[in-house]
Amino acid sequence: MKKCLKEIEEITEMQQWQKSTVYQIYPRSFQDSNDDGIGDIKGIISRLDYLHDLGIELIWITPMYVSPGNDNGYDIADYYQIDPIFGTMDNFEKLLKEAHKRDIKIIMDMVLNHTSNEHSWFKEAIKSKDNPYHDYYLFKDPVDGHEPNNWVSKFSGSAWEYVPSLNQYYLHLYDVTMPDLNWRNPELRQKIFEMLTFWANKGIDGFRLDVINNISKTKNMPDDTFETPTDDGRNFYTNGPHVHEYIHEMYRKVFGPNNFVTVGELSSTPISEAVKYTDPKREELSMAFTFHHVKVDYTNGKKWTLGHYKLTDLKSIISDWQIKMHKNNGWNALFWNNHDQPRAISRFLDDNKYRDESAKLLALVEFGLQGTPYIYQGEEIAMKNSYFTDIKQYKDHESINAYNDLLKKGTDKKTAIKILQQKSRENSRIPMQWDLSENYGFTKGMPWIKSFQKDNYSVKSVRSHSNNIFSFYQNLIKLRKTNKTLMEGSYKLLDPEDNSVYSYIRQKDDKRIMVIANFTEKEQKRTILNDCKLILGNYGNIRKTSNIVKLRPYEALMLEQ
Ligand code: GLC
Ligand code: CA
Repeated sequence: MKKCLKEIEEITEMQQWQKSTVYQIYPRSFQDSNDDGIGDIKGIISRLDYLHDLGIELIWITPMYVSPGNDNGYDIADYYQIDPIFGTMDNFEKLLKEAHKRDIKIIMDMVLNHTSNEHSWFKEAIKSKDNPYHDYYLFKDPVDGHEPNNWVSKFSGSAWEYVPSLNQYYLHLYDVTMPDLNWRNPELRQKIFEMLTFWANKGIDGFRLDVINNISKTKNMPDDTFETPTDDGRNFYTNGPHVHEYIHEMYRKVFGPNNFVTVGELSSTPISEAVKYTDPKREELSMAFTFHHVKVDYTNGKKWTLGHYKLTDLKSIISDWQIKMHKNNGWNALFWNNHDQPRAISRFLDDNKYRDESAKLLALVEFGLQGTPYIYQGEEIAMKNSYFTDIKQYKDHESINAYNDLLKKGTDKKTAIKILQQKSRENSRIPMQWDLSENYGFTKGMPWIKSFQKDNYSVKSVRSHSNNIFSFYQNLIKLRKTNKTLMEGSYKLLDPEDNSVYSYIRQKDDKRIMVIANFTEKEQKRTILNDCKLILGNYGNIRKTSNIVKLRPYEALMLEQ
């Protein structure tokens, strides 16, 4: 009995990754050390003290394996090597050592849904149908001389590419240069486990698993019905028939024995499924990235449109996830930004007149929620969209394909650019702004992607002011490590119909925390908890009479009762 109780105690005790904040690095755009215009591992090492100072305990780095770079590293040609543009394996080992010295853990990005077409497996696979590697990928014969089904690639056009020498098509849910792997093949799975073990043995601390919920396709891969705007084949591979089995197998072989922190990228996933991936009892993943809240400005479910969002929708989505994940033992990864999203500050708030207030509001609303918070590089200094004005400034295949599609469908160029300025992920891929020198201290060379706007926000300039955004994040990160109400408390949304102000309560035992945030530039009067004290606010103080608060433009408060 005693032992049993102790075990339960151990299980319910919070893990370090549940109290920590994760910082996402897009290495290409983070810090260049040799002035070739591309960020690299030595650059990351040189900024570890900066991240430590911020309070970061986990870093997720997007892929740095050998790759032709058609999707900036998500198209892997060799899982075992660091791409020379980022440095060497020695550099990587040094990064691990230096990070660990500072009590920072490293989570590597791992892409297991597809490889690059330059991977040796694929080069073999297309040699002949009886090549042993042919079955590592998803090939199908033509049907009536056409594609095997009507699935659409997430990067536009058909998801199938014809290989004349085989008279077969291969599936690519993403770029045409990124063929999907066949997870039904046990030999392939074995090769993947070996490779994951190789990285575990290097001493890394976990994986972010790219589009991991797409790895299991429905047998025979049937046509989609196109009954709803999102029907494009995803019904037959999102959270497919064997996905939980496969992930559990990785857990048993790699994640569990190595005590890994894992986060799955789970697009188009309902809460019931996200719970399955992250309930510790099931032994799959630590936490879930889901995307419903960042699709709130899609018009009729379509991304490439000029969209507007309603705060009530955003609140309702976030609240649903907060409540149901918590209740069912799931765990949320909390984020506003990443390398696939335009900057939230440009999208949901004001990146101009109230830029500081807006950045801090986003931080406060995120860090008040239940889950593990993530910061994407530059978020801590309020970086905003790149707002490119010409299609020639874009490198990203997804964005360029979408632009061409829009023109084909009759959209004029000006509107198409406007849509990209709002929705393209390239908005958040411009170099990190370290100082206000040319190229913002990112490189002395020619950056692989240029920022064409004059912006006076940089790490140096922001941090030269008191009460700056960076120090606001520092405070929040500290708070998360120790405040039990934030870590474990329940969540309740207040005033769901309020389209100007987002407020919620977190509660643990008799302690309550209220977060209240004005998403407009108008002053708003609202009721707050009785006898509460201010923990943190983006104006530094609070204007209230008894329990009525007068919220200034984009004001956000965290209050404790
Ligand atoms: C994920 C990555 C994205 C990439 C895609 C294909 O969504 O975050 O950047 O393009 O997977 O690998
Ligand atoms: Ca470099």
